Amino acid sequence: MLFTKMADRGVLLLAVHLYVAVVSVQSQGSQQDNFIIQYLERRLAQIEERLSQCEQQSISATQKIYELSSEVRGHMSTLNVFRSEVKAQVESVSTRVVRMEREMEYLENKIPTQSDIEMEEALLEQQIKDIEQELKQKAKIKVENDCNTALSQIKSLKIVKKVGDTSGSWFKDPSEGSNKVYLMSGIRNNTLLEYVSLKRFTEKAVTPAPKELQLPFYWQGTGQVVYNGFLYVHKADTPNQILKVDLLNGTVVDSTLLPGAGHIPVYSLNPNTYMDFAVDELGLWVIHADSEYEGNLVITKLDKASLAVDYTWDTQCKSRDAEGAFIICGTLYVVYNTRYGGRSTVQCLFDIHDTIHSNESPVLFFPKRYTSHSSIHYNPKDQQLYAWDDGYQTIYKVEIERNVTA
Ligand SMILES: *[C@@H]1O[C@H](CO)[C@@H](O)[C@H](O)[C@H]1NC(C)=O
Ligand SMILES: *[C@@H]1O[C@H](CO)[C@@H](O)[C@H](O)[C@H]1NC(C)=O
Repeated sequence: MLFTKMADRGVLLLAVHLYVAVVSVQSQGSQQDNFIIQYLERRLAQIEERLSQCEQQSISATQKIYELSSEVRGHMSTLNVFRSEVKAQVESVSTRVVRMEREMEYLENKIPTQSDIEMEEALLEQQIKDIEQELKQKAKIKVENDCNTALSQIKSLKIVKKVGDTSGSWFKDPSEGSNKVYLMSGIRNNTLLEYVSLKRFTEKAVTPAPKELQLPFYWQGTGQVVYNGFLYVHKADTPNQILKVDLLNGTVVDSTLLPGAGHIPVYSLNPNTYMDFAVDELGLWVIHADSEYEGNLVITKLDKASLAVDYTWDTQCKSRDAEGAFIICGTLYVVYNTRYGGRSTVQCLFDIHDTIHSNESPVLFFPKRYTSHSSIHYNPKDQQLYAWDDGYQTIYKVEIERNVTA
């Protein structure tokens, strides 16, 4: 019993046991030897006892270390979660701060800083005259840029042609002196087609054949526009890069990144479009949805020459269930549908001048046609909507009224 147990003990024990065995063999019958053997066996038992205690303690220490380390691991993963939460919050706060800063800047530019200055009466009069003069000038500019109009009805639908993919976009260049029609089929390509006029575009066999422009890059989505002979487009495989392309020779003349764009599609029903451009009476716009802003639509006025951001407005219009939008006179109209296709409606609008309010305006219905739009572009020159309706190129005539509340 003792000997078998001894096998898995240490070398020291083995030696002691051997010694005991030898002694016991050599000294049989001797009282003193028996005593020594008994003594040694007792010692052995004590050593064994202590060894087993040692083992027990080491097992329980290992157990404790294991428990401790798994506890630490647990804490670490909680910490990681906290850390990413904090990071997300910091990022969101910094986005808000940037937006606030932009708003402050805008307001500061709008409201000149006032200072208390004492002034001679004559000088004051002169100043008043100057201001009056300035106001008259401003009024003149406002009349020239008169934009107190609102969409009141979508009157009629004209199906013009059926060409290309189920998704795509088509539009005219709304600038003076241009009659050209552009067509970009699909959601990603490096070509666009240019037709000399709408009349030619509608012909069955187009003569002359449309010009096929090959661009030095791929574009993405259905949001592009042409304005003054320049194409404004989302460069494919980038989250938010905007290119401005001279269509005379296909060269990229400018490029910018739109802050906050590219994380989610603009309209949930058109998942390949991340930036939707628009041209209205006031100029060039881009619409995107901001994931940091509950997926609401954000509109940005771009300088058409430099692509610099003039100003950005956060709207209350949701990107969820939206299929498109267009801008008329600085008012965004968002078109909603269902993912099964159906009758499109305008259910949310946002007026940058704050004269038209979404909750006061009725839901506007598009003429009955149970499909969905992959793009809708307003043309400020002929005041019509150019839409791509399930592969059909269609034109909506709209009724625009002077905005009475303005
Ligand atoms: C790009 O457009 C051309 C002409 O419309 C078409 O033939 C081609 O298949 C398109 N390529 C892709 C990748 O969709
Ligand atoms: C493209 O055309 C524009 C305007 O005509 C011109 O300024 C530019 O230099 C041209 N670029 C190339 C590469 O030909």
